[in-house]
Amino acid sequence: EFHLHPKEVALASNGLLGTYDNRQLQRGLQVYKEVCSNCHSLKHVAFRDLTQIGYSAAQVKKFAADWGTKAKQFDPKSGDTTERPNTPADYFPTVYYPGQGNPPDLSLITKARHDGPAYVYSLLTGYGEPPAAMLKKYPDAKTPDGLYFNQYFATLNLAMPPPLAQDGQVTYLDGTKPTVKQMSADVSAFLAWAAEPNLPTRHGYGLAVLAFLAFFTLLTYGAYKNIWRDIK
Ligand code: HEM
Repeated sequence: EFHLHPKEVALASNGLLGTYDNRQLQRGLQVYKEVCSNCHSLKHVAFRDLTQIGYSAAQVKKFAADWGTKAKQFDPKSGDTTERPNTPADYFPTVYYPGQGNPPDLSLITKARHDGPAYVYSLLTGYGEPPAAMLKKYPDAKTPDGLYFNQYFATLNLAMPPPLAQDGQVTYLDGTKPTVKQMSADVSAFLAWAAEPNLPTRHGYGLAVLAFLAFFTLLTYGAYKNIWRDIK
């Protein structure tokens, strides 16, 4: 009863005709890179996929090469694993998290959880103190040491410390103000894209199919009228 349903977040990709806002996705990528990627992998996304959110091939090449964790390369002859800079064809390197808890890969998190992007947004902005009414009713429900209370997480206590705790944690290049809400919305939008990059295409097909069906309905209605025209 104290576990909340995700709050709404207005993203360009919402709704039947929603599409992505590349500038927002680029900001979200920056938040993922500077904050989330310290703990979370994004192993189903390849660097080259970033051309879809408005980067040139040259920018992607540099972005991949500059990525902190290098790509691992196994040499079957010597049996050695060596490191080399990432190329656009590489996937985001796996992140090994040394701390408590098990940060899930974020590639598909917006599909794996109900209300995906809204859930991620709510979780990121949903840290706080347990409600007094809850502690009154369930005095034992205190947040254990090392966990953080979050009303949007199913068990209410999350092993992830608030990753976006203060405004200005990243510096946006496009002049957008990096409030906690803004950064949370941006990274939620980015993760929605990561999980379903072809959403705009899918929405486009949906619209075309509906338009065709509407047209076809009129056509059959016309044919029906025509065929039965002489019969009273
Ligand atoms: C869990 C997102 C940064 C450590 C989660 C979950 C999400 C998430 C959506 C929960 C998943 C679920 O429903 O199972 C993010 C985003 C981040 C971020 C978007 C950046 C803005 C971090 C950082 C750390 C971290 C920096 C490490 C210091 C964890 C851990 C869990 C977790 C340990 C598992 C928690 C549990 O099962 O109790 N994160 N995270 N996350 N995250 Fe993060």
